[in-house]
Amino acid sequence: MKRSIVRSIIVVLVIGVVMGCKTSGEKKDRADSEEMDTVASMEEKMYRPNFHFTPKKGWMNDPNGLFYHNGYYHLYFQHYPDGNTWGPMHWGHAISTDLITWKEQPIALYPDEMGYIFSGSAVVDIKNTSNFSRDGEIPVIAMFTYHDMEADKAGKINDETQAIAYSLDEGQTYTKYSGNPVIKNPNIPDFRDPKVDWDQERERWTMVLAAGQEIMFYASRDLKNWELLSKFGKGIGNHNGVWECPDFFPLPVKGTEETKWVLLVSINPGGPNSGSATQYFVGDFDGKTFTIDEGFRKELAKEHSFWVDHGRDNYAGVTWSNTRTTEGGKLFIGWMSNWLYANQVPTEKWRSASTVARELGLIKGPNTYRLISNPVKQLNGYRAKKVADKNIAIEGKAVLTTSETISLSKTEINFTLTDIGKGTYTFTLSNSQGDQLKFGLDASENTFFVDRNNSGKTGFSEKFTDRISKAPRISNSNTLTGTILLDKTSLELFYDNGQIVMTEIFFPSAPFETFSLESGTAKSTLENLEIHELTVN
Ligand code: FRU
Repeated sequence: MKRSIVRSIIVVLVIGVVMGCKTSGEKKDRADSEEMDTVASMEEKMYRPNFHFTPKKGWMNDPNGLFYHNGYYHLYFQHYPDGNTWGPMHWGHAISTDLITWKEQPIALYPDEMGYIFSGSAVVDIKNTSNFSRDGEIPVIAMFTYHDMEADKAGKINDETQAIAYSLDEGQTYTKYSGNPVIKNPNIPDFRDPKVDWDQERERWTMVLAAGQEIMFYASRDLKNWELLSKFGKGIGNHNGVWECPDFFPLPVKGTEETKWVLLVSINPGGPNSGSATQYFVGDFDGKTFTIDEGFRKELAKEHSFWVDHGRDNYAGVTWSNTRTTEGGKLFIGWMSNWLYANQVPTEKWRSASTVARELGLIKGPNTYRLISNPVKQLNGYRAKKVADKNIAIEGKAVLTTSETISLSKTEINFTLTDIGKGTYTFTLSNSQGDQLKFGLDASENTFFVDRNNSGKTGFSEKFTDRISKAPRISNSNTLTGTILLDKTSLELFYDNGQIVMTEIFFPSAPFETFSLESGTAKSTLENLEIHELTVN
């Protein structure tokens, strides 16, 4: 009897202790999760971009499978939904009717026993050349690289092959082709990122593929059987890193009757300001071989590389298939990060954003052709509140606006600066925490710069602040025009009508409050200044 009372007391005590532990454990869990929620919502507020695409959760890198069909632009992307660093690659998916507002869709392609789904492209097979159509639907064909991790870990160089999948519901869901891979690996490391497009002139598909330090050109009539046409790249351009994510398309040369072919090749590392960047080549294509233009070759010998974007945060960018702008331009989007620090940037819930969608064009300068990029025109439709001013004399430092007047994190700024002397013209974004993001033109060296070294949170990687990014100015004009796009964590600069572009990310500890321009000792005039707040959430 006595014993049983003691036992009961012990049982009650034990239950009490366990319950007590559980309650305090539960409390701690709740506190932890509340803290995480607060951190997550702070992060959403501070860093989730206003008008750049980010995945709801998880990791993102390269844009993939860009195509336009039936009123929708499709953007797939390298995605690891279950973690915020690079991992088993899927194709995430988003759609837009105007290239600015994106709606995330269910994941389109999952890794399988053949490997991770690496970068690639998608085309609308209007003529059903692939014969995948069943009830008269227009098939969409995705072509991607299978990256076999087992083979990779075993040190095999032939770990990458090319495969296709088809969609009969306008890109929502895909069925992987039973005959994969459609291109086996001929023992070449870094054999990946197929970019397919319809060759109007020859009525067939052309595909470019990164293959070691070269680009391989292929052709196909049915997207399943591929013939190797030629190779390009030995000893040409920048080879200080791995060649990846090529793209190849004809572009009309503005103001002429001419058309030239453009080849984009992303390279990592080896970029002009370290790490990842995308170089380009201009030339001709005879249906078999791509030959770079003579003038371009001569300039390349002097300039060494031509870059789509000189900033550190525009990588693996490619263009939309099945659409062009009214002027014949191609639409482009890049991954707004750099492999140097992409896995460490200070966001937890998601990692990385895309650049704003851009229109690519070609101009002919005195010595060669150059690629120009500008934000897509659809962005103009988002202009709301505006601050405009004319003929502001710039002598010393002038505050151009503050966040009390207009937001500095969903903003388009257009300016014309005249009478440029030999000084340094520095735009500064600053906040009361002492963070500063500086960019502008050093006219004595004819060089643009971006200095994010004191722009807020930078300690996550030494590589983030190990230099001031620079880009040579092509124009010698003493008038400088520019478009500046500002989001919470990104700066996109389009100078001299898109001749020089610089994209860089940053993570301020509080939103920027003041936007100013300083001209040092030089004088000049801000002939025109327009600041638009964009109506995005
Ligand atoms: C470029 C890249 C591609 C590859 C993908 C893997 O950033 O390395 O070459 O397909 O990322 O995620």
